[in-house]
Amino acid sequence: MNLKIPSLRADTVTQANDLAATLQGYTSSIPTTDEALRAFAADVDRGLRSRPKRLDCKYLYDQRGSELFEAICDLPEYYLTRTETQILTQVAEEIAAETGPLTLVELGAGTSRKSQLLLDAYCGVDPQPDYVAVDVSSSALDKGARTICENLPTVRFHPLCTSYQDAFSLLSKIGKTMVVFLGSTIGNFSARELDDFFQQLAVNLVPGDYFLLGVDLHKDVRTLEAAYNDSAGVTQLFTRNLFSRINRELGASVDVNQVEHVAHYNEAAFQIEIYVKFLQAQEVFIEPLGTRYKVDAGEQISTEISRKFTLDGLTSKLAAYGFTTQRVFSDPDDLFALLLLKRPESRLHLE
Ligand code: TRP
Repeated sequence: MNLKIPSLRADTVTQANDLAATLQGYTSSIPTTDEALRAFAADVDRGLRSRPKRLDCKYLYDQRGSELFEAICDLPEYYLTRTETQILTQVAEEIAAETGPLTLVELGAGTSRKSQLLLDAYCGVDPQPDYVAVDVSSSALDKGARTICENLPTVRFHPLCTSYQDAFSLLSKIGKTMVVFLGSTIGNFSARELDDFFQQLAVNLVPGDYFLLGVDLHKDVRTLEAAYNDSAGVTQLFTRNLFSRINRELGASVDVNQVEHVAHYNEAAFQIEIYVKFLQAQEVFIEPLGTRYKVDAGEQISTEISRKFTLDGLTSKLAAYGFTTQRVFSDPDDLFALLLLKRPESRLHLE
């Protein structure tokens, strides 16, 4: 590994009240509808051309998809959100006391439901905590802004409608920071993407900064598979919505009642694998590109993986990127864990 970790913060360190100004330059990169559509068409085209076929999971989250995902989070079988929320409720004050005042930067903040628990605790150690919420969905950010403004008026809320990638370079420009990444979203990264993500954090966070990470733990197959195959069928709607979106935005005409959600746990790979299964042969037409792809009856298109972790495996991986594990919080059944990690104060070079 060739990783240089900066020992000093960039000279452009920003005082808290300059944060808003620093953030200004970061929202300009929101793609126009046209650019976004072109990228969507190109990604779907590439995915359907590859063997086996796959689609990028980020396209599951349009407005309808985000609403359905929120409904998934409330399902009895989907223990992840509930358990992480319980842990956060119990330990938020401990975390705030341990780190002291800092700027919270949440990646994939959504509607900031869970982070409100943290922010509430930070209000106890900081009269005006700064909170940067990064998300690609502006409707989710708006919703979060409204609730935080109402419930925690002293929090300085900075919505940032952009991708994680664009937010990384911001991290070294603000004062003491804690990056917050909840919901076991790291599980949706491939091994390669996860390495890139940790590397980016390692490069952009500076000594003394924190990283709060929520992860779903490896466990029995039954519990895991139930979480991704709920009995009410909400997950089925969520997966099908990807094709409703492709129909609507890319001019395809897939019969979504003839596609089915499939999820199973691959124990050897420690991951839930999620597919759209075509019940009958259908064609997917991508209007902006004029291309068509045939999908066979019974064929499965991969839409997402959700990797599960062991604490030992994950903490040693994080250690390789220069993160020390300060605290591990979990529930009594060890379903889920919240890791408080830190970039050590001392100078560190990893070669
Ligand atoms: N980040 C969520 C997870 O890995 C995503 C998710 C939950 C999901 N249920 C799903 C994705 C069903 C596709 C289908 O737990």
